[in-house]
Amino acid sequence: MSNPTVPTVKLNNGVEIPQLGFGVFQVPDDETTAAVSAALEAGYRSIDTAAIYGNETGVGRALAASGLPREELFVTTKLWNADQGYDATLRAFDASLAKLGLERIDLYLIHWPTPARDLYLDSWRAVERLASEGRVRAAGVSNFQPAHLQRLLDSGSLVPAVNQVELHPGLQQAELRAFHAEHGIATEAWSPLAQGAVLDDPAITAIAARTGKSAAQVVLRWHLQLGNIVIPKSVTPARIRQNLDVFDFRLTEEDMAAVAGTDRGLRTGPHPDEFNAA
Ligand SMILES: NC(=O)c1ccc[n+]([C@@H]2O[C@H](COP(=O)([O-])OP(=O)(O)OC[C@H]3O[C@@H](n4cnc5c(N)ncnc54)[C@H](OP(=O)(O)O)[C@@H]3O)[C@@H](O)[C@H]2O)c1
Repeated sequence: MSNPTVPTVKLNNGVEIPQLGFGVFQVPDDETTAAVSAALEAGYRSIDTAAIYGNETGVGRALAASGLPREELFVTTKLWNADQGYDATLRAFDASLAKLGLERIDLYLIHWPTPARDLYLDSWRAVERLASEGRVRAAGVSNFQPAHLQRLLDSGSLVPAVNQVELHPGLQQAELRAFHAEHGIATEAWSPLAQGAVLDDPAITAIAARTGKSAAQVVLRWHLQLGNIVIPKSVTPARIRQNLDVFDFRLTEEDMAAVAGTDRGLRTGPHPDEFNAA
């Protein structure tokens, strides 16, 4: 990877993903090119989008305009719920590739299990095929609970490289993280800043005051030291740069324990067991 300051995490198939990337949820397509260009300029090389975000075209424009070699970029996109099922997954993947202007995706995720629709095993077979054809470098899932992961494992299929889940100091996901560790699945944290909801926590602001870093930087540092992959989102250039400037300090064991104490079942998004929207 081209940015030496950002460490990589080696996935279970040997592919390396930058541990810190850039998310574009809720960024309108016409603003996405500017945001992703600012992120690439700042030094991010990993971009996280999804078909449902409606901004793959804007991401693709920024990637092309950057002039960066393809092999230095790591692009994640996700299969939307309405496109689950074997054939529909293959079609949706082609549509995402076309919008992004790419020939392959570094990490392709099933966005939600949507358990009531019960199509994720079929969808996963299609993602496995894309991986075996080399059109996807790493195959993963998102918002899968241990029971959903266990079903994939029991079906004897490819072990997902990544599970991208809501994870931040207010929702620390201990059970899932232990399951991932046991099965060689990397943990990727979405809404790593809880969309700002944890940035006023006294345990976090106290560490920020002592270290001279912002609350957001303290939270990102907490993730990195736990081993999580993080994808903070911002459309504000100064914050885009700030969120990458987290490799020159460390939290102490006491700091890590203090942040651990702020876990409180805080969800900013839907519960994966109950979210079946198509
Ligand atoms: N798989 C899934 O189901 C799923 C679900 C949700 C999100 N995601 C992914 O995860 C990414 C990140 O999650 P997210 O966008 O929900 O939330 P987030 O990254 O936790 O928080 C983003 C919010 O925090 C603000 N912010 C960013 N940096 C800041 C800083 N240094 N100081 C203060 N505020 C700051 C941003 O404001 P400004 O933009 O105004 O600067 C924005 O309002 C998404 O973009 C998406 O790629 C995936």
